[in-house]
Amino acid sequence: MNLRPANLLYKYLQIMQFDIHKAMMNYKLSKLSSGLNGRWLDIGAGDQPYKYYFLGCSEYLTTNTKRHYKQVDFEAIEKQTTFWIEDGKNLPLPDNSLDGVACFQVLSVMDKPGEFFREIKRVLKPGGKLLLTTDFIYPVWSTEDRYRHTAFNLQQLCAKNSFKVSSIESFGGFASTIYAIFMRYMRSFPELWKQKKLLAKLLLAIPYLLFVLLLPIISLKGMAIFGIEKNTVHNTDFTFNLLLVAELEIVESL
Ligand SMILES: C[S@@+](CC[C@H](N)C(=O)[O-])C[C@H]1O[C@@H](n2cnc3c(N)ncnc32)[C@H](O)[C@@H]1O
Repeated sequence: MNLRPANLLYKYLQIMQFDIHKAMMNYKLSKLSSGLNGRWLDIGAGDQPYKYYFLGCSEYLTTNTKRHYKQVDFEAIEKQTTFWIEDGKNLPLPDNSLDGVACFQVLSVMDKPGEFFREIKRVLKPGGKLLLTTDFIYPVWSTEDRYRHTAFNLQQLCAKNSFKVSSIESFGGFASTIYAIFMRYMRSFPELWKQKKLLAKLLLAIPYLLFVLLLPIISLKGMAIFGIEKNTVHNTDFTFNLLLVAELEIVESL
């Protein structure tokens, strides 16, 4: 076991923090899962944390991007990935071949979201569903994470690509957002701290260590915030994440 302080702190944070993002995802997907059936593709599925909600589907295909993974994680992720993609512009699937596309926390790395939506439209059958989540008021999480999309922009991307929007939901309200950003600060602090000068290191370490000690209580507060705000879906201009639910329009032929 690695007993280095940095590793112990990392493990402690992992165990003690209540993950409001996961809790909101699970809550929202549990409400949608009964309507998920047929052949689905999860674009950028990662290690498939939400696979369970697609158990009622006849097929659950997954994609990932090779460059997103370190060598140590590669073998495990390869076993779970149906096919690799390098961007979202060319999915190796025929036209009209899917009943649904899921895409969670990937849109913020897409250089050309319009082209990405066009490609999803191509592979979906008319009436096919799109479930998409994307970061909004949330810190950058990788060098590829370059874009944030407002609810208006998601609406526009749908309108331009013949998707009918069923809903665009916030992940709770103000308190959920502050909590999510605070927990991200707790995880990022050790890396940022290393880069500081000695005096700043001392001054910053004191409140941080206090927060570390209080983490179980802060997590309980996070659970309470989740309980209160899990049904707050209209705060789309002040939220850490957005959920889009849309359907490809069925064009009636004359
Ligand atoms: C933050 S992870 C999200 C994983 C999972 N969907 C979740 O919600 O936990 C981002 C995923 O997007 C994929 N990805 C990264 N860059 C991409 C790109 N340019 N085109 C398509 N997928 C990409 C990676 O394979 C990675 O699994």
